[in-house]
Amino acid sequence: MAYEPLKGQKALVTGASSGIGAGVARALGTAGAAVVVNYGTNAQAAGQVMDEIKGTGAQAMAVGADVSKEDEVRAMFQEVCSAWGTIDILVNNAGLQRDAPFTEMTLEQWNGVLSVNLSGMFLCAREAAREMIRRGIRPEISRAAGKIICISSVHEVIPWAGHVNYAASKGGVKLLMQSLAQELAPHRIRVNSIAPGAIQTPINRAAWETPEALAKLLKLIPYGRIGVPEDIGRAAVWLASDDSDYVHGQTLFVDGGMTLYPEFARGG
Ligand code: BGC
Repeated sequence: MAYEPLKGQKALVTGASSGIGAGVARALGTAGAAVVVNYGTNAQAAGQVMDEIKGTGAQAMAVGADVSKEDEVRAMFQEVCSAWGTIDILVNNAGLQRDAPFTEMTLEQWNGVLSVNLSGMFLCAREAAREMIRRGIRPEISRAAGKIICISSVHEVIPWAGHVNYAASKGGVKLLMQSLAQELAPHRIRVNSIAPGAIQTPINRAAWETPEALAKLLKLIPYGRIGVPEDIGRAAVWLASDDSDYVHGQTLFVDGGMTLYPEFARGG
């Protein structure tokens, strides 16, 4: 029999039309959850992910909402809760990069990244927490009243020149997650982060699409391979399931060792 640790649970994954979000949405579906595939702009791609999940026998729906817009986030949660009754798992994944040398970075690039990567997580986590607190624990479904997982980055600890807005947003995610974990623990809502390293997705295409770029990238990854969205999907299933019921307020690095300062293997 299939291992379905999330059977009977409703999950919402933001930014799930591509990349890590799509990988997480598929993995949650395979683990037995009903999955909301949220997308910002690409309805067609989200529809495909939804169809793939339905094809495996799980329930799925695609819902458009810009996570940085309060009214759109509210409307999305209302739509999901009226369709499916409640929400058990939120994966705060939507994120983007708008890279520039610092002295050329525009306020638009700064605000664009902070508003999706950080404010978007705030808005979605707030709606999810309100619903999880309202509903409370159903022991037949899960030991927790809800699970919130933030998809952070190795750049919540690794500074990143040329990407100051992105690194600042992920540094913010670290303390957003930890403070939220502290505050929501009495409600039995578990809050954790996954910090992916280099995962092969459209966001970092330039870092892997030529053999030269990939060779340079692999020097930063002791384990010697680029990650794939399934690597993050499997971690998300575990963090969303009761298998990790005593894990709370933690960041799980899924990075092939990128945070091990690999330069020091050859020097220092
Ligand atoms: C970034 C990618 C980058 C990776 C490792 C991620 O958070 O979005 O562009 O390849 O970190 O540096």
